[in-house]
Order: sequence, then structure tokens, then C-alpha cells
Amino acid sequence: MDQNCIELIGVSKCYQSSSGERWALQEINLKIKQGEFVGIAGRNGSGKTTLARLFNGLILPTAGKVLVNGMDTADRRYLFQIRSQVGMVFQNPDHQIVSPIVEEDIAFGPENLGFPREKVKELVERALKDLGLEKLRNHAPHLLSGGQKQRVAIAAVLAMQPAYLVLDEPTAMLDQQANIQLIRHLKRLRQEYGMTIVLISHHMEDLTFVDRVIVLDKGRIQLDGSPASVFQEINTLERCGLKQPEIVQMADNLRKKGYQVDPDIVNLEQMVEHICRLLKLKV
Ligand SMILES: Nc1ncnc2c1ncn2[C@@H]1O[C@H](COP(=O)(O)OP(=O)(O)O)[C@@H](O)[C@H]1O
Ligand SMILES: [Mg+2]
Repeated sequence: MDQNCIELIGVSKCYQSSSGERWALQEINLKIKQGEFVGIAGRNGSGKTTLARLFNGLILPTAGKVLVNGMDTADRRYLFQIRSQVGMVFQNPDHQIVSPIVEEDIAFGPENLGFPREKVKELVERALKDLGLEKLRNHAPHLLSGGQKQRVAIAAVLAMQPAYLVLDEPTAMLDQQANIQLIRHLKRLRQEYGMTIVLISHHMEDLTFVDRVIVLDKGRIQLDGSPASVFQEINTLERCGLKQPEIVQMADNLRKKGYQVDPDIVNLEQMVEHICRLLKLKV
């Protein structure tokens, strides 16, 4: 068995409510390996949050198994270990603030995990630096902007040194500028530490920097592959209520006009590089 992964085996999840049963996920088989940067997309109600909550045992599957580094989330003996391995960041950063000062907020997690004082200091410093928050360390988190608050929330999770970072629509409440900045930080975490990141987003543009995109609809996995391959599936994306990212549309339009555009181009940086190359060839 592969130990360094989150694995879902035949997972289904049914919620019981006054209006009856609701199958939020059905027969999901999925493996997220350490070191991967995975994006998850899907319209409202497709099962994304349910999936995220299953990853760290916040909820348990109705059928099937969720294993985190080989530990079954249904086995209560592992719950603490699983929760400290799988760090979660949610949509609304206001719900995640626990302290009136940024650096104390970030220290809260590692202190609770029982790290020695010196280690806590080191982890807080690193998390502040990684999320570009050094200048805000003594500020009150609830007075910060949405983007800054969300970066504090991510720093607070990172300071606990989880093996997996799961973010459930962290950009949903942010303006475009803050959104871009947040994604840039995630990219850097990935590049510098090879951090395993699962990013749930309904902004397709957010998912143009990941290694693998999973599309959910009606509680089932509809697509799973490289961004370039998933974004080519126009019909399936449309059926799932999703659109191709703009750069992919642009690349298709350029192709229709007879330009050769590499099929792997899915984000702005890659497109700029490509156009520069094209222009140089013409000069
Ligand atoms: N606590 C709950 N009780 C009953 N139904 C729920 C609950 N949470 C989610 N659902 C239902 O499960 C489905 C998937 O929801 P969710 O995982 O939140 O999707 P997403 O995050 O993609 O919007 C939806 O139909 C939703 O109404
Ligand atoms: Mg959700």
C-alpha cells in the first residue's frame, strides 16, 4: 500500500436531512500523492466541500474508506494525527481567526500541537515570510483586508507543518488582485517546499497553475488529468457548468487563425512567453 497519499476507495457520502437523503458523493476512487498540486473544480453543490471535509476526517464516508498516509479516518485513534497532517483553509477567513494579533494567531496551532517555544517562533517567522505578512505581524487580523486575512489563515495552517494543505474556495471572497496574489503565494509554496496542495476553486483561472485538475459534478468525478487535457474537454466542462480558462480560449482562437500554439499553454505566463517567441521568429 502507498503510504504517502490521501486515498479514497469507493467513497460515497449521504446526508440525512428533514427533506430526506442526499447523496453528495458517489463511488469516488481517488489518490492524491504527496508533492502533487491538485485543483478541484465543479459547480455549486457538486460535492467539493464534502470531499475536502472527508480528507481530514471532519466527516466520515457513508460507504468506502478514506486513508491518510495509510490511516483510516474512521479509526478514532488516528484522528489527531490525521488532523495535524491535513491542514484545512476555508472560504471565509473570518471564521478562522482565533487571536487579536496576527503573529499570535499563527502561533496558536503549533503551540497547541506542543512544539517547544523556540520551534514555535521559528515556524511563525517562516509562515509570516512565506505569505508576505512580516509587516502585518502586530496587526489585528479582523481589521485586515480579505486577501490579507486569507493569507493569515493559510500561514496559521502552514505553521503546523501539515503534509497536505487543502483549501476550499479560498479565493471566493477576494477581489481579483487579492486572488492573483494568493495564487502566487501557493505557487511559491509549491516551488520552494514541494508542498502538497489541494485547491478547490470555481475560478478556472486559479487552476491553470496546478499539475492536475479534477472536475466534479453530481457527486462524481467527471474529468481527472493535466490542466491542458482537462481544459480541452469543452463539452464535458459545459455540461458540468464550467468554462475553459480565457487563455485556453485564446490559444484555440490563435490556432483557428493558423498560428501554431503549443497545446500545453493554459496560463498567462506561458502565453506571454509563447507570443514573445512568435514575435522574435517573425522579426
Ligand atoms: N450538512 C448537509 N446536510 C444535508 N445536505 C448537505 C449538507 N452539506 C452538503 N449537502 C448537500 O450535498 C451536496 C454537495 O454539497 P457540497 O459538498 O457543499 O458541494 P460544493 O462544495 O461543491 O458546493 C449538495 O447538494 C448539498 O446541498
Ligand atoms: Mg463548497
